[in-house]
Order: sequence, then C-alpha cells, then structure tokens
Amino acid sequence: MSPSSATRLSRPTRNALTTLSRPTSRSPFSPSLHHHRPISSFGYTQSRALIFPDYGDPASILSLHTHSLPPTHGDHLTLRFLASPINPADINQLQGVYPSKPTFTPDLGTPHPVAVGGNEGVAEVLAVGSGVKDLAKGDWVIMRSPGFGTWRTHAQTTAAGLLRLGEATREGITPAQAGTVSVNPCTAYRMLKDFVELKEGDWWIQNGANSGVGRAAVQLGREWGYRSINVVRGRETEAETEALKAELRELGADVVVTDKEAMERGFGDRVKEWTDGGRGKVRLGLNCVGGKLVTSMAKVLAPDSRVVTYGAMAKQPVAPPAGLQIFRNIGFDGFWVSRWSDKNPVDKEKTVKHVLDLTRQGKFKDSPMEEIRWDWDTKQDTLVRAVAGTLEGYRQGKGIFVFGDT
Ligand SMILES: NC(=O)c1ccc[n+]([C@@H]2O[C@H](COP(=O)([O-])OP(=O)(O)OC[C@H]3O[C@@H](n4cnc5c(N)ncnc54)[C@H](OP(=O)(O)O)[C@@H]3O)[C@@H](O)[C@H]2O)c1
Repeated sequence: MSPSSATRLSRPTRNALTTLSRPTSRSPFSPSLHHHRPISSFGYTQSRALIFPDYGDPASILSLHTHSLPPTHGDHLTLRFLASPINPADINQLQGVYPSKPTFTPDLGTPHPVAVGGNEGVAEVLAVGSGVKDLAKGDWVIMRSPGFGTWRTHAQTTAAGLLRLGEATREGITPAQAGTVSVNPCTAYRMLKDFVELKEGDWWIQNGANSGVGRAAVQLGREWGYRSINVVRGRETEAETEALKAELRELGADVVVTDKEAMERGFGDRVKEWTDGGRGKVRLGLNCVGGKLVTSMAKVLAPDSRVVTYGAMAKQPVAPPAGLQIFRNIGFDGFWVSRWSDKNPVDKEKTVKHVLDLTRQGKFKDSPMEEIRWDWDTKQDTLVRAVAGTLEGYRQGKGIFVFGDT
C-alpha cells in the first residue's frame, strides 16, 4: 500500500460524517477557542494522524491520514492532543532501528496495517465512556510508556496507558512543557540519582550538554547542589560557540567546553583546576554521543565512578581502555527511560510531578523548541518536513507539534 492510497481511501468517511457539524469558522459562542472539533451528529470524531505503513526514510514513508473515531463508549476515552515533540528516538523508530517497535494496526481505516509516529505528548480528555473511573472530560494526560503514536490530532484508548496530570499538577504548565516532561527530564533525573550517590559539591561530566536531556541534567544537578562539566560541539564561529556556552552557564552549568577542548592533552589538568586541585571528585559521566570523546571524559573520573550511556548521536561505539576498568574500577552502564518507566510506574509519576513542580517554581526551564502548529488544515508537507529535519544536528531547538484548531 502506498501511504497516499491510505489517505485517499479514508476521505469519503470523513466527508460523510463531518459535513453536518464541522463549522467553517470559529463561533463566538464556542466554549473554548480551540474546540473547533470535527464531530458529527452521530458522535464520530474526525482525526488526522501522521502514519507510516513500514520502516524507512521518514520523508518517504510518512503521510497524513484522516479517519474517524466512533462515539466514546465503555472503558474508552477520546483524546485531543495538545502538544507532541519530535524526539531523536522517534526518527530511529521510523527507520526501524529502535528497539521499541510501534504497533501496526488495521484500525485506522487503511487497507493495510499502519503505525502512528511519535511517542511522547500531552492530550486533553474530550469524552469518557461510562466505564471510565479515574479520568474525566477536561483532564490532561501524558503517556505512561512510549509506543502510543502521538503525532495525531485525536485518539481513542483506555485509561491504562495514561498518566493523569491533575489540576494542581498542571497549574501554570504549558502544553509544550507537559508534552516534553516524560522522556528527557525523567532521563536526566534518573541518571543523576540512580547510578552514583552524588553529594552536594560533587562533580559530574556530560557530553551533548545542549540536548534536551543535557539541559535538563544541568538544571536538576544545580538544584541538588552538584557541579557540572559540560561538553558541546563547537559552532561555526567562536562567537556562536561562546554564546552557546554562556546559555548553558546561565542554566546552571559550572564549566562548558567544546568536544575539541575535552579531547586535547591537558584536559585532565584543567579539570583538576576546576575541581579544587582534584579535591572535588568527578564521579559520574553521562554520554549520548559515543566515540573517543567518552574515553577522554572517563579519564577524568575518580576511581569507582560510572559512565552512563543513553544515546549514540555520533554513531560511534564506546571503547573504554581496559586500564580504566581494571585499575580505577570505572563502570560503564546504560540507561533507557522506556524500560525504567515500565518497571517503575510509581517512581515515574513522582519524577514527572517533581519536574513539573520545579517548572512551576521557575527552577526548571524547558529546552528551546521550534513549534510547528498543527491545525486541521495543516498540510502533510509541513508536518513531514518538520520530522525529516530532526536528526540534522546544530539545530536551534527541538521540533514540537503544537495542536491548534483541530
Ligand atoms: N536512553 C534514553 O532513555 C534516552 C532518553 C531520551 C533521550 N535519549 C537520547 O539522548 C540523545 C539526546 O536526545 P534529546 O532529545 O535530548 O536531543 P535533542 O534535544 O534533539 O538534541 C540533540 C543533541 O544531539 C547532538 N548531536 C546531534 N548529532 C550529533 C553528532 N553527530 N555528534 C555529536 N552530537 C550530536 C546535538 O548537538 P548539536 O547541537 O551540536 O547538533 C544535541 O546536543 C539522543 O540520542 C536520544 O535518543 C535517550
């Protein structure tokens, strides 16, 4: 099946169901500005989703598909998405190289099963079936685990995979903040807390420091009194590199260096200077890049420290020298937030709530984001282009679909 044929097939359904009720302009009497919702007099909700029929290059496999959702019934809820980010892992998933696989389903009215892209996001509950207990119309929910398919305007599901953000939790929080809290901030949080017992004044080091995870780690570490050495890739000009370093220092980074500086001879001596002649110990390394840079970082760690790998942006393996492992007992671990979330649902909820509390108190800023507004009429091309650019590197901010008039 070609993606476009899936879209073509579904169109008659939408026309048949929406002509009676879908307004052509916003009514001054609408209860809410964005409730410009395509719902038929038979209670069917129209949804648009970025779907893919098979793995491959995002630009060639994704298509915008319209389908209808039946009236909400039983233990089902109907959701309207508010914000859904485009994370590097989402792209890997489309390419078929990510360990958690999406569900290919025939339920979206396509002739062959398709999956919906995206794993993270926040939605509001539009309607609940009579069997739904703990969620009500108007609640905000995020996904407990990846794999939901969040790049869509509406969805229908049961409550099991959803985490409710109650009134108090979501107060003062924007959809973009709620929609990006469960992956990157949780990853940073757990890596700083669960591998080494850092005490106030202890040091840690990370690469990819300007990534979503990196920025979250800088801020959480600062909040807990840990001191950080942050490695970024240099920019085209010295001025741009300095601006990036200053931005991270503003967030709470103690030291920011380029990857080139971190790989130069003498980096260890510089680290000693920063850490009070070596009296301050660097006890944890966080790695989302890979390659020789990780060895340079590991060399400045105190004995019994750990390096935690959580990404592989440079697609280079981590190859620790045996001496570091034998004589200094530097441990090399990995972390995957999906696995952690599945195993620790209660801690996941606590972590999410803590980060949102810090956000509300102005102690945690979200990463720079490039918002792509998704209205009912937004063209496939605009949405697919936003996804396709995600792994290009040197970006100003993370792409995030922010749903408007859907
Ligand atoms: N294991 C987990 O549970 C988990 C959870 C969340 C994220 N992650 C992983 O963490 C990484 C960062 O994710 P994010 O959402 O925070 O990223 P993001 O905000 O989209 O930022 C991407 C980061 O990757 C860097 N980068 C891109 N290409 C690179 C290359 N070839 N070499 C070195 N650095 C490169 C970018 O640096 P420039 O600005 O210099 O381009 C930037 O710092 C990804 O690998 C992601 O899959 C893992």
